[in-house]
Amino acid sequence: MPSPRAGNGRFLWGAGTSAHQVEGGNDGSDWWDWEQLPDKIRNGDRSGAACGSWTRYEEDLDLLTSMNLDAYRFSVEWSRIEPQAGRYDESAIEHYRKLLLACRARGITPMVTLHHFTNPRWFAALGGWEKLENLSHFVSFARLMGERYGDLVDHWITINEPEVLAFRGYDEGAWPPGVKDRSRALVVIANLLEAHGLASAALRETDRVDADGDGAPARIGAAKHWVLLEPLRAWNPLEHLSAMLQNGVFNVAVVRALAGGPIDLSIPGAKPVRRHVDALRGSSDFLGVNYYTRWLVSIGGKEPRVARPGAAVSDLGWEFYPAGLERALLASASFGLPLYVAENGIADAEDRLRPAFIRESLASLDRARARGVDVRGYFHWSLLDNFEWNDGYHGKFGLCAVDFGKADAPRTPRPSAHVYAEEVKRRVSSRPA
Ligand code: FCB
Repeated sequence: MPSPRAGNGRFLWGAGTSAHQVEGGNDGSDWWDWEQLPDKIRNGDRSGAACGSWTRYEEDLDLLTSMNLDAYRFSVEWSRIEPQAGRYDESAIEHYRKLLLACRARGITPMVTLHHFTNPRWFAALGGWEKLENLSHFVSFARLMGERYGDLVDHWITINEPEVLAFRGYDEGAWPPGVKDRSRALVVIANLLEAHGLASAALRETDRVDADGDGAPARIGAAKHWVLLEPLRAWNPLEHLSAMLQNGVFNVAVVRALAGGPIDLSIPGAKPVRRHVDALRGSSDFLGVNYYTRWLVSIGGKEPRVARPGAAVSDLGWEFYPAGLERALLASASFGLPLYVAENGIADAEDRLRPAFIRESLASLDRARARGVDVRGYFHWSLLDNFEWNDGYHGKFGLCAVDFGKADAPRTPRPSAHVYAEEVKRRVSSRPA
């Protein structure tokens, strides 16, 4: 049964970005500092001026409408809005209001992410997500966002990929703060989940305006990176077991908590974390599913996770596996929340694979919906080539190519942008009245 709180609005067709990856000049965050350290980012890249979207957001929105899209997922940069603890920058708050008004002027529904990996420098210095007492800072920020933008926003994503942030930053040590301690990673996931529950309550209290007139003032969810994990060798019981355990903590435990269940995180090599958080109950109106690929779990090989041998792979070596979107949607739907595909895309500078990736991913989405999965929207990642974290400017996920070498970072829609526009048009025009 669809959740009554999820509303009955139209299916959203969009694309996504995040502030740090596209705006440029985000120099108040832990990520900015991380980029300055040697050997952290591929080719020594830095986010720098990125796509210049801080000033060029109207052009970005026009690209969306030129592709028949009616929704934009983007994030507000906490470090710009609150450059020091408790001190809010009115000009930054005003900036995002202008962006939201520019969306409204074009009939674009915004889906606003409050936290997309970057932390204000001061928050990181306080111990970031490892300390439970720091959560109140994020909750105050969420409250402010609900107060200031509630009249223009109905769709909120509190936190993007808590499990990715935690494993990359605290287990692999590849992201700030560069810790390699799996037990600490589990604490961070638990705290991020708890923060989602508390921030959701703060948004519900403050966002009382139904911006799009469909009866729901705020629809709130978190975005989850749903990765398919399988054994590399079907006959290998250890690889089976490892894939199952990784799926249990990375996918299942996270979604169970977001859907209102207890936090119960355990994985070999780490101290388990178990917690009941009242605020998680009823905290999610939907789940954002970010799906890219599957990984095969290998034991004893050079890499713990590999692409399927012989498969076509993206520029980042991720298997081309758009059919997996259907599986990811079916699996994540079993927790009872309506879904949005909040990210789905491929790093492909030459656009070799993206046209087929889009066609086949949308066919996967159609199949999942035909099988009864309640999906409310699809956001391609990404509108633009952008700063792809550790992979710097090498990972090109854009529907539109960006020429970072030129001062005004010109944007050029790739052939796949037209493919996406046509696929959307076909689906929208065949929709029953
Ligand atoms: C996701 C992130 C997004 C982007 C894509 C490729 O994990 O949410 O910012 O980096 O991967």
